[in-house]
Amino acid sequence: MIAKSRRAGHFVIVRVGEKGERMPLTIAGSNIQKGTITLVVQEVGLSSTRLCELNEGDYITDVVGPLGQATHIENYGTVVCAGGGVGVAPMLPIVQALKAAGNRVITVLAGRSKDLIILEKEIRESSDEVIVMTDDGSYGRKGLVTEGVEEVIKREKVNRCFAIGPAIMMKFVCLLTKKYEIPTDVSLNTIMVDGTGMCGACRITVGGKTRFVCVDGPEFDGHQVDFDEMLKRMGAFKSIEREQMSKLQP
Ligand code: FES
Repeated sequence: MIAKSRRAGHFVIVRVGEKGERMPLTIAGSNIQKGTITLVVQEVGLSSTRLCELNEGDYITDVVGPLGQATHIENYGTVVCAGGGVGVAPMLPIVQALKAAGNRVITVLAGRSKDLIILEKEIRESSDEVIVMTDDGSYGRKGLVTEGVEEVIKREKVNRCFAIGPAIMMKFVCLLTKKYEIPTDVSLNTIMVDGTGMCGACRITVGGKTRFVCVDGPEFDGHQVDFDEMLKRMGAFKSIEREQMSKLQP
């Protein structure tokens, strides 16, 4: 049912184990015939490690979705899509939808190193141009995602930008595009609990107003998002997380 009804931008919340953390994950793709959805997960903390440890035949305790608002897609003209690290996974359906709507799509793929550049083949299939940037220069060009985006902005007229990746990366892409007055959409991945607008765990400030990422988002006008507040809230459970992770070590 999720595979059938999901649109670009939608996410699911998954939980591994009865007491597991509820993890919001954007749907990267689906196969309606098989009834499957594709999630791309990077092992970074306790919950993502538990999810990645599952083998074929194991199961996820529960999956809720599709949640959130679908991406607003139209023919903007020339669009730059900036994807950082695992953020390229939620970017893929947006790139595909933008291309299908007739946009000229230029995608900037960025990661710390070559092995963190993902879904390049799929992104290339739906982009008019792809620029790869790595922090250490091990693949594509050496530099930050913002350098790749600015190069395009200086070269040609860009009508809209989409940025998905770590919060800090989206913050800097937005600072850059604000300078050039290019409307920019970001997809936020905050801590979530219920995913239906009731608990307030995912609240952020957008344009001075409180918004809930799970029901109002996950996409917002990046120029209006208070990224510093969001980064602070996302770090709230860091020490507990570290403690739990240390228990996992053999
Ligand atoms: Fe509870 Fe959004 S996750 S309000």
